[in-house]
Amino acid sequence: MRFVLASNNAHKLEEFRAILSGSGVTVLSQREAGIAVDPEENGTTFEENSLIKARAACAASGLPAIADDSGLTVPALNGEPGIYSARYGGPGLTDEGRYRYLLERMRDVEDRRAFFVSCISCVFPDGDELTVRGECAGRILTAPEGSGGFGYDPVFLSDDLGKALGTATPEEKNGISHRGRALRAMCARLEEYFAEKDGRSAE
Ligand code: IMP
Repeated sequence: MRFVLASNNAHKLEEFRAILSGSGVTVLSQREAGIAVDPEENGTTFEENSLIKARAACAASGLPAIADDSGLTVPALNGEPGIYSARYGGPGLTDEGRYRYLLERMRDVEDRRAFFVSCISCVFPDGDELTVRGECAGRILTAPEGSGGFGYDPVFLSDDLGKALGTATPEEKNGISHRGRALRAMCARLEEYFAEKDGRSAE
């Protein structure tokens, strides 16, 4: 089954392809699908924003679309940066600028717990929609470690791996990440969905 990935983030595309390899689900970039959509993410939850992106890519391409809306949540900062993870600290910052801003906000904070969230939505041209969620727990470091991954990975110590995601290999990260968990849940959900659909059309 082929889906257009509703994202312009090359890191996400790479992670999607690695996590989905061998699953029977393949993803086309927006460029490969001949579209360039970038809808306003004005939802109030990760779920709403992932649906906004997948609906826009499906409408523009006429193909099934898949989207991830993801981010980092820090309970001690009342959930910041949350759905604003990609724009935290204001426009124009790089990934490094954003994690340095986070470290500054966390300077005197003792409770360093944090978790990544990924909501994945699939939207089909007939209007059917599926959404799943994956989470990955850890702690915010006091200084960056490693340069692997993207976004906040260098300042996130994974509980599962016992090390910063910035120092993890792609295989290690994808095995425990919010996106890995959500995508594996979506593969299972898609199998159920197609089985139900086949059942309905055979009736
Ligand atoms: P989105 O593209 O609107 O979903 O924004 C996601 C933002 O959350 C990214 O730009 C990163 O700042 C952050 N983020 C999401 N997933 C990850 C990850 O796997 N590692 C590090 N940062 C992430």
